[in-house]
This record gives sequence, C-alpha cells and structure tokens, in this order.
Amino acid sequence: MNVHAAIARAKRQTMAPPPDAAALFAAIPAACMLLDSENRFRAANQAAEQFFAHSLSQLRQHALADFIDHDSPIFRMIDKARSHDATVSERDMNFEGPRISHRGVAVQAVPVAEEPGSVMLVVSDWSATRALDRQLSSRQAARSVAGMAAILAHEVKNPLSGIRGAAQLLEHSVADSDRELAVLIRDEADRIRALVDRMEMFGDKPIERTAVNIHRVLDHVRRLAQSGFAAHLRVTESYDPSLPPVWGNRDLLVQVLLNLVKNAAEAMSDAGLGSDTGGGEIILTTGYQPGVRLAAPHATEPLNLPLVVTVRDTGPGIPPDVEKNLFDPFVTTKSGGSGLGLALVAKIIGDHGGLIEVDSKPGRTEFRIFLPVFPEEREAAPAARG
Ligand SMILES: Nc1ncnc2c1ncn2[C@@H]1O[C@H](COP(=O)(O)OP(=O)(O)O)[C@@H](O)[C@H]1O
Ligand SMILES: [Mg+2]
Repeated sequence: MNVHAAIARAKRQTMAPPPDAAALFAAIPAACMLLDSENRFRAANQAAEQFFAHSLSQLRQHALADFIDHDSPIFRMIDKARSHDATVSERDMNFEGPRISHRGVAVQAVPVAEEPGSVMLVVSDWSATRALDRQLSSRQAARSVAGMAAILAHEVKNPLSGIRGAAQLLEHSVADSDRELAVLIRDEADRIRALVDRMEMFGDKPIERTAVNIHRVLDHVRRLAQSGFAAHLRVTESYDPSLPPVWGNRDLLVQVLLNLVKNAAEAMSDAGLGSDTGGGEIILTTGYQPGVRLAAPHATEPLNLPLVVTVRDTGPGIPPDVEKNLFDPFVTTKSGGSGLGLALVAKIIGDHGGLIEVDSKPGRTEFRIFLPVFPEEREAAPAARG
C-alpha cells in the first residue's frame, strides 16, 4: 500500500461518522428499557424484546406490572431511583410474574434527567452463564466418578460375581430357614453391581449424534412414565410443533428426560401428591428461543442453543440444602437414592454441548435444557431421524 492510500484510509477511519445512538442502544446485550412515570414501556432494545418475548410495539401497550408480580422488589427499586434521583443496583434479583420467569438477574434502575419521572432499567441475565459454570464444575466431579468407576469395575466386579455365584449355590443347598439370607446376599450383590454399572456410564466416550425429533423422545418418555412410576400423576404436554430436530443422541436424551420425569414423580409422590389426591402434575414443554446465544467465559465460541425443553412439576421443590450441589454425583435426599441421576443428566447435556438450569420453589420446579439444532449442512448425510 502506498503512502497516499494509507493516509486516505486513516482519514476515512478517523472521519467515519460514529454509529447512531439508536443502533448502539439496539445492540447492547443487556435488556434495556425506558419506563415512563407510570412504569409503562416507552422504549426497549432487542435484548429487552427477547427478555419479555414481546416486540417493542407490543411492549409499548404494556406496563412492567403486566409482566412482573406486583409485590416484586423491582418496583421499590424503581421508586427509589426516582425519589432519590440516583442509580439503584441489585446484583441478584428474580423477575417473576404471570408471563415470565427469569431468576438471578442483575438490575440497574437509572433515572433519566432529560425525562423527569422516567427510569431506564438495565437487566443482565447471568443465569445461563452461571448454569454453565455450575455444569462445568459438576463435570469435573463426574470425571472423578468415571475414574472411580473404572477402579471399581476392575476391583469390585470380579469378586462381586464370585460372591453372587456362591450365594446362588447356597440358595439351593441350605435349609429353608437360611435361604432368605442367601437371597439377601444375592440381591445386595446385584444392587452393588447396578451401582457400578451406572457409574461406568460416566466414562468419556464421545457420543454419536444425529437429527433427533425431541417430541418423539418426549412421547416415549411420557409413555414409559405413565405406564410405570408416574401412573398416578397427570402428565401434560405443550409442544412447539415447528421445532427443528435436535443434534443429539436419541437414547441418551431418553435417559436425560426419564431421569428428570422420574425425579419429578418421586418428589410429588413423597409429598403425597397424585391425581387422586389432586395437584400432582408434570408438564413437558418445548420451544424455540433464538436468544440463547452466549459467549460463556470458558467456551471458545458463542453457544447457539435455541431449542428449549422443560420438565416442570408441581411438587414440593428442591430441598435448599441440596440445591447448590444438585448436579454433583452422590447428592441425594432419598433413602434409597444414588444421587447419580442429575449428575448423569448434566454430563449428557454437557456432552451435547448444551446447558441445563433449574428454578425451584415449593409448588413449582422447572428444569430447562438448552440444546443445539441439527446443522442444515449435515442434512445431505444419511441420518436417522427418530
Ligand atoms: N423435581 C424435583 N423436585 C424436588 N427435588 C428434586 C427434584 N429433582 C431432584 N430433586 C432433588 O435432587 C436430588 C438428586 O436427584 P438425583 O441426582 O436424580 O438423585 P436421586 O434421585 O437418586 O436422589 C434428589 O434426591 C432430590 O432431593
Ligand atoms: Mg433421580
């Protein structure tokens, strides 16, 4: 490049007009909205449209109270920003109401000097990033389970099958009064064996993925549940029929959903909820949410996980003492529980490049899974749909 061209280029760069404020506002990744003195929406950027799942023109016909419960502390924050004429921030807040549920968002309420009474609300949703962080740490724990399982498989399985075989022989030769003991030994040996088998599933084998119709997976799981452990519960479905196929492993996804539905059923049964007693319900939903694209701190590229599958129940909620380590192995509140279900769920979702997050309070527990779409360019390759 000659000197003149370089100067011309430098000039163009320095002289280029700055992008206009509206474009900048639209591009801010946090949900930004301008509320008037009655907390009605006056302006909202793209992130805010996504956050409320409403377009700007729709939002303009609403007030914030149409989306968020009236007793939410957010309204006190906004009032405070107005009355003190100062920015008010809250790092960890829940946005919940009839139309939305966003837990763990950071909120700033900023009074706008040019528009007396107006407040700019800036909402950053960290929940997905946080879920990813948590998933990564559970994954570490899952790895150590895999290592332990390898040792167990080696050191325990062989002697165990010896014990089992011996107990089986005894069953046929001992007196009736002692047969019960022999059966007990055999059953317990089977239980240990099943545990080791489950732990072995944490191994680091790469997964095989094809285009999977998630609705068929959900139907299968629902049928299994309703003919077995969830026979006494209502299972309802709310699917987005236009959903593109998931890029996933059908059998593993069945395992994930079965674990979640089973946990939901167990939580409700333990609380005495059933269709005869009323109130016990499992709700399965699917949806498309192109907004779930985040540059996670540990990820090398932004994740694009537009498929959302949720399993919700009306049970008592996750006990607070397990909530923090929910996805770690061996965390359980059940007397016969292994605590491996959700650890395996997190591992499988992680292997899919997906995310799982959970919201729970008494009467409403929701697991949300974000999954990748089957990439179009693979369409040409022969792939089993199912
Ligand atoms: N839908 C739910 N409602 C209430 N608690 C739940 C739910 N799902 C999971 N939990 C809690 O999380 C714990 C861990 O679940 P999981 O990893 O599947 O192990 P396990 O089912 O063997 O206990 C459960 O023991 C239970 O306390
Ligand atoms: Mg379980």
